[in-house]
Amino acid sequence: RIKSVEFAGAIGQLGQQAPESARGMPQVAFSGRSNVGKSSLINRLLGRTRTAIARVSQSPGKTQEINFYRVRADLGDFFLVDLPGYGYAKAPLALQKKWESVIAEFLTAKTDLVGMVQLIDLRTGPTADDLRSVDYLAQLEIPVLFAFTKSDKLSLMKRQEQFRSAVQKLGIDPDQAIPFSALNGEGTQQLLDTLGELLFP
Ligand code: GTP
Ligand code: MG
Repeated sequence: RIKSVEFAGAIGQLGQQAPESARGMPQVAFSGRSNVGKSSLINRLLGRTRTAIARVSQSPGKTQEINFYRVRADLGDFFLVDLPGYGYAKAPLALQKKWESVIAEFLTAKTDLVGMVQLIDLRTGPTADDLRSVDYLAQLEIPVLFAFTKSDKLSLMKRQEQFRSAVQKLGIDPDQAIPFSALNGEGTQQLLDTLGELLFP
């Protein structure tokens, strides 16, 4: 159970460190294509459906910094880390490259990172960019969970089909993947429980 949440700070440039309060604290980060629903998922997990804490936008490229949210929960304190999305082709190349290196610096340091949630749009399934991200996280040996987002946008039949196909393309165990909707809350409790096990084993 989550008791409170606050914005703790951000990393905006290479060489910048995680906010002081986040250092030495367990962190979980969220990776995915721009517009896949990372910030929306974080708001939903934190129960911030009416007053968003992570900024959300219809146009991709909204999150421009690595944002840290401090969460106080029954089991203890931890941090959720919202990353800028990848694969936004319209962003200037120099900016895309900058973000790649800022994210890479944070992930390779992986000091306090206990795991990642990789988001995949359930309607499209994993894209080439998603598969590259998954490979990269595997190389870094970071434990990864999968959230298949925007499940509310599919019919029941289509979702099952898309779920099976995505699991197969990713080569993962179906237990590692959670269908998720920031709109209706599907998958929220399951993701919170799984993160709880990861954060407080
Ligand atoms: P960047 O910050 O650009 O990387 O994007 P993001 O991954 O943080 O996406 P964001 O949460 O800003 O959501 C993008 C758009 O998708 C917004 O218009 C959201 O309202 C919408 N959206 C996100 N999750 C869901 C969902 O589960 N269902 C539906 N129907 N829409 C969603
Ligand atoms: Mg965002």
